[in-house]
Amino acid sequence: MFKLPSDHEIQQAVNFLRQGKLVAFPTETVYGLGANAMDISAVKQIFKVKGRPSNHPVIVHLGDLAQLEQWTSHIPELAWQLAERFWPGPLTLILPKANSVPEIITGGQNTVGLRLPGHPVALALLKVFGSGIAAPSANRFGSISPTLPAHVSQELGEQVAMILEGGPCEVGIESTIVDLSADGPRILRPGMITAAQIMEITGPLATGSEITTRVSGALTSHYAPQTPMQIIPKDKMGEVLAALVNRKRSSVVLAINPLDSPGIQWLLMPSNPEAYAHELYAKMRLADQAKQDVILVEDVPAEETWSAIRDRLRKAAG
Ligand code: TXA
Ligand code: MG
Repeated sequence: MFKLPSDHEIQQAVNFLRQGKLVAFPTETVYGLGANAMDISAVKQIFKVKGRPSNHPVIVHLGDLAQLEQWTSHIPELAWQLAERFWPGPLTLILPKANSVPEIITGGQNTVGLRLPGHPVALALLKVFGSGIAAPSANRFGSISPTLPAHVSQELGEQVAMILEGGPCEVGIESTIVDLSADGPRILRPGMITAAQIMEITGPLATGSEITTRVSGALTSHYAPQTPMQIIPKDKMGEVLAALVNRKRSSVVLAINPLDSPGIQWLLMPSNPEAYAHELYAKMRLADQAKQDVILVEDVPAEETWSAIRDRLRKAAG
């Protein structure tokens, strides 16, 4: 079990942020690498530490709905409705930005991504800080998002002033991103809040592929382990494993339905999407650390409740 940070530690984290330093903190989705969103040189540090291209925008996290107006130039009615339904929670809204929002946050676009996270430690930090915290996932660019403090320290270690601990992230994959800045509402990144849940509020969503590389989650090399990863239909797993064994190639397999194949390293995955998402990134890291020739993943069910998981698996498989 973990201990929630004390008020003193939260205050220490806030002091670091005010000094322009980076603080990693837990959210209900993944750990974030935080900086004062109004401090341009602090936000530049985020890009440096992550090794992330500087034209990628970062999400600004808020602790209070009342701050929404400071970051936006216009708040459509749908934004209020989505906020009321899903915040605090794993939803990011893309809205027209206020003039004061630094360009480094928006990647030079006229929109800003905003989110009120649901984790108690994130909320405590944001409330005491009292303003926006810019935070991408606390991993190196292109690698797997962290869902445990140990993932952050392994990957970023000394480069952050402090890592606030908050246990394993409950949701486990990144927030659903909904763009409300264009003509019709559009999902830019699927998450555990599904399109169907969003549409209950927004009605039909705009589709089509106008997603640019500005959404780094839309790049194919994203969320990827070092070991090559392949997605295998459930009924093909036996065949594929036999072929690998024949070619003397070693493998580790993430599966909901493991087979009785001796000599194969199985990592058992849960059969419901919430539990699966919760464990996915930690299991992908374990699979990577097993240093086998290939990571195989049994494909997940085709239902819409699995669509964000499918998206992350496909991106990891490249
Ligand atoms: O769950 C999450 O969203 C986590 C936690 C820490 O909040 N954050 C996260 O941040 O996943 P990051 O930077 O790894 O991914 C944020 C995505 C990126 O793909 C970025 O391009 C997109 O949000 N994004 C941010 N601002 C945007 C904007 N104004 N327009 C379009 N996409 C934007
Ligand atoms: Mg990320």
